[in-house]
Amino acid sequence: MSTPTGIPTLDTSELEQRVKRMYEEVALEPDRDFHFETGRPLAERLGYPPDELDRIPAAAIDSFAGVGYFLDLAALAPGETVLDLGSGSGMDSFLAALAVGDEGTVIGVDMTDAQLAKARALATEADLTQVDFRAGYIERPPVADGTVDCVISNGVVNLSPDKPAVFAAAARALRSGGRLALSDIVTATRLPEGVTCDAALWAACIGGAMQRDDYRAAIEAAGFEIETWRENPQYQFVSERADNATTKYGVTSISLLARRR
Ligand SMILES: C[S@@+](CC[C@H](N)C(=O)[O-])C[C@H]1O[C@@H](n2cnc3c(N)ncnc32)[C@H](O)[C@@H]1O
Repeated sequence: MSTPTGIPTLDTSELEQRVKRMYEEVALEPDRDFHFETGRPLAERLGYPPDELDRIPAAAIDSFAGVGYFLDLAALAPGETVLDLGSGSGMDSFLAALAVGDEGTVIGVDMTDAQLAKARALATEADLTQVDFRAGYIERPPVADGTVDCVISNGVVNLSPDKPAVFAAAARALRSGGRLALSDIVTATRLPEGVTCDAALWAACIGGAMQRDDYRAAIEAAGFEIETWRENPQYQFVSERADNATTKYGVTSISLLARRR
C-alpha cells in the first residue's frame, strides 16, 4: 500500500487480517509449515523445562509459536496475578498458572478467535480454573488498571503496529513495582520501508521488529526500568525469505525483565 505521494505505508487492517489468519492456522493446524518453528522441540530448545511442559496440556505446546524463554526472569510466585499479552493457544499462560497456583490468577488476551477457543477448551479440560482467556487487543487489554503483578508476552509485541501503546497498556495494568517479562524479536539495524510495509513479512514476526535501542527506549518511555536483557541465539526463522532478512538486518530474539517505576 502507498500514500497518494507514493510513500509506502503499512495497511494495518490488512495486517490484522493476515495475523489472525496465520495464527488461526497455528491453532488449528500446528503441524503445517510456517516461516517460524512451532511446538515442543522449539520450546525445549529455547529453554522451557521439560518436566514443566509435561504438566500442561500437550495441545497447547503443539501450537506454541513463541520466540524465547523468559519465565525464569518473571519468577512468578504463588498468589500473583499475571497478564499474558497475545496468549495464543495458552502454553505460557498454563505454565504461569502452575507457578501462581490456585490462589493466583492468569489473564490471557488474544485477538484471534481460534486461539482463544483452543486455549479456553484446554483450560477447561485441564481444570485450570485460575486462567481466564479474554478476547481483546494487546494495545488495550481488558483488565483493570494497577491490578497485575507481572505482564508476560512471547513473540507478540513485534506484531503490533503501535508498540508504545502496548508498553503503556502494560504499565497501566501493573501495580507499582510490577514486572514485565517477555520474549520478542528485535533488529540490529532499522528495517527499510520495503520490509516494514510488507504485511506478510510482518505477520511472520519479521516486518514489525523494532530496532533494539528503539525497543528499549519505548519500554523506558512507558515507565519501566530494564533489569535484564538477553539474546536467544537458539531461535531461528525457518523459511529462506525470513532467513535472508534475519541475516541482512540482524533480526534476533531477546528476552527481558523490566520493572515498573
Ligand atoms: C507469535 S503468536 C504467539 C502466541 C503465544 N504467545 C505463544 O507463545 O505461542 C502471536 C499471538 O498474538 C496474537 N496477537 C497478535 N497481535 C495482537 C494484538 N494486537 N492484539 C491481540 N492479540 C494479538 C495472535 O493472535 C497470536 O495468537
